Amino acid sequence: MIEFTLPKWYDLHAHFRQGGVLEPYIKAHLDMGCAGALAMPNTKPPTAVVFEDDENNGKYWSIERYMRDLRAAGADKFKELIVPLYLTIDTSPDMIIKGAGSGLLKACKSYPPHGTTGAEYGVPTTKFMDNGVFEAMEQAGIVLCVHGEEHGLSPDHYFDYGQNAETIFYDNYMPIVRDKFPNLKIVCEHVTTKKAVDFVLGAGPNTAATITPQHLIYTIGDLLQGLKYHLFCLPLLKYSEDRQALRKAVTDPNNTQFFAGTDSAPHTTKATDCGCAAGCFTGGIAPQLYAQGFELAGVDLSSQYGQDIFRKFLCENGASFYGFNLLDDSFTLRKEDMPVKVLETSEGNVVPLPLGLKNYTLPWSIKL
Ligand code: NCD
Ligand code: ZN
Repeated sequence: MIEFTLPKWYDLHAHFRQGGVLEPYIKAHLDMGCAGALAMPNTKPPTAVVFEDDENNGKYWSIERYMRDLRAAGADKFKELIVPLYLTIDTSPDMIIKGAGSGLLKACKSYPPHGTTGAEYGVPTTKFMDNGVFEAMEQAGIVLCVHGEEHGLSPDHYFDYGQNAETIFYDNYMPIVRDKFPNLKIVCEHVTTKKAVDFVLGAGPNTAATITPQHLIYTIGDLLQGLKYHLFCLPLLKYSEDRQALRKAVTDPNNTQFFAGTDSAPHTTKATDCGCAAGCFTGGIAPQLYAQGFELAGVDLSSQYGQDIFRKFLCENGASFYGFNLLDDSFTLRKEDMPVKVLETSEGNVVPLPLGLKNYTLPWSIKL
């Protein structure tokens, strides 16, 4: 039986939501050996100011408040917790400098306007190139987390063979941001295309990327065959050539730039008559899914060599990019079937991705 032990890891892109559901969502992360997270700020209202005093009568939430709620709901057990600041039309260089000085602000998140769940307050990236925000972030050492998709495209440009919202974004904007702010630390979030992977590889050590389990395992064909809406997340799954580029990047023994960020995005109501909420829920099972993805990519996880490659991606590269300590606490992955269960919350049940695909067991199990 294959079994190996890893240091506890950090999920560098997760959605924990708000209110009563925080507790079960955070517990699911703790249960999968996660010792810290970047908790995404696409709350309602968006977490778009640093200090509670600046919430502007509820227009925005503050990092201060959201961190307190997260900790009260179990995130106090995390060794590291970052809530990136949601970049809006109201974000100013002064907010960045003061936030960084307080220690509460470590990262900012750029959303494409209306481009995904909770992205209504997003602002085109170009705005922050010109208004001093990226410059202040570069100076203060604040990480830029980018949801890299062009917004407002017509359907034939949004997803077509040869180009899509992500490739257009990486063609048109990222090289300019990279050149103009060479010392800005950038994480290209949940990359899905060869185009984005190639950008990251060519952009030097201040540039990194997160990759989700679903984008390592599946292609758009998996979503379309039978219209399996539990695979509907943004950015969308792409073609096998793209998945191959992702797999090659994460399985390179010299990989330093690509790391785990699950984008676990729970929705108690996934599909309705009016459409489908974007987001795959992988809380509780992400290391198991990543292990599955690495095996599909040809990594032999029974070998020390394969386990070292996996550990870099899951535990080391992201910690190093964000300046977190590698942990002595550990957990164990074992090649043994494990049942997948629905997560019950006060707002209803959440279906983890494999169950939504009618996979009732996972090939890997976890032991803390
Ligand atoms: C995320 C969500 O549900 O909050 N959805 C998703 O498809 N990934 C938002 C996001 O990160 O894009
Ligand atoms: Zn996300």
